[in-house]
Amino acid sequence: MQKKKLVVVNFKMNLATLTENEYWLDNFFRAKKDFVTKQTELVLCPSLIFWDVFLKRINKDDWVSLGAQNCFWEDKGAFTGEVGPQMLKSREGKYVIVGHSERRKYLKETDEENNLKIATLLKNGLVPIFCLGESWEERKVGLTWKVISSQLKKGLENIRKNQAEKIVFCYEPVWAISANNSGKIPSNNEVMEARLMIKKSIKECYDEKVAEKVLVIYGGSVDEKNLQDVCLSAGMEGVLLGKTGLLVYELLKIVKKMEE
Ligand code: PGA
Repeated sequence: MQKKKLVVVNFKMNLATLTENEYWLDNFFRAKKDFVTKQTELVLCPSLIFWDVFLKRINKDDWVSLGAQNCFWEDKGAFTGEVGPQMLKSREGKYVIVGHSERRKYLKETDEENNLKIATLLKNGLVPIFCLGESWEERKVGLTWKVISSQLKKGLENIRKNQAEKIVFCYEPVWAISANNSGKIPSNNEVMEARLMIKKSIKECYDEKVAEKVLVIYGGSVDEKNLQDVCLSAGMEGVLLGKTGLLVYELLKIVKKMEE
């Protein structure tokens, strides 16, 4: 059976008001009309405060699902200000981004915390989209693979094989994220190498079967023009979009290209 491809939109804190979120949704549904996908799932990760606005609109589309940008690592309890996996699950959440470099940077989130989050998410039937990636400084001194495999192995500690298969791994070099303004993007070869490295590390943690089964996607300044080079011909099975996801027509062009 062919694996589904993923297009994930990380809205971050970009659409700040209800009006902006409704405007995006209006445009999206107008532009997509009756379009349906056969092999691509679109995962929208809005701010939790606007979650229900999205939920009301998308629940009839089985190729569009909802994801959160973060989640706490306990099921429930006295954790002020946090949102737990059971809350997301009860509001039809399906995916959760874990380990995004902006959370590692601004919230000082650690590999150990990401590991706890991955375990809780899987236990609750949610799919972690686990972000891995090196900084420019790390790449310059040849630490790319060491950083990625260390993030991956720490994140997977004590995660059972049959659970690990469900994780989506996202290679997202920190320096390629558009918000970091580097103007740089990895070459087709570099993305291909990263994919192989991720698969190799998964194989080291489990076995070939798990490595083959998991989805590996790419994130960082993807647009319609570079999609083929940086993602599809590099063997990636999906994309994580920030900036481009805000542009409905560009987003739909990407979804359509994934379907080809
Ligand atoms: P970008 O963001 O597509 O704007 O580079 C991707 C991300 O940070 O997830």
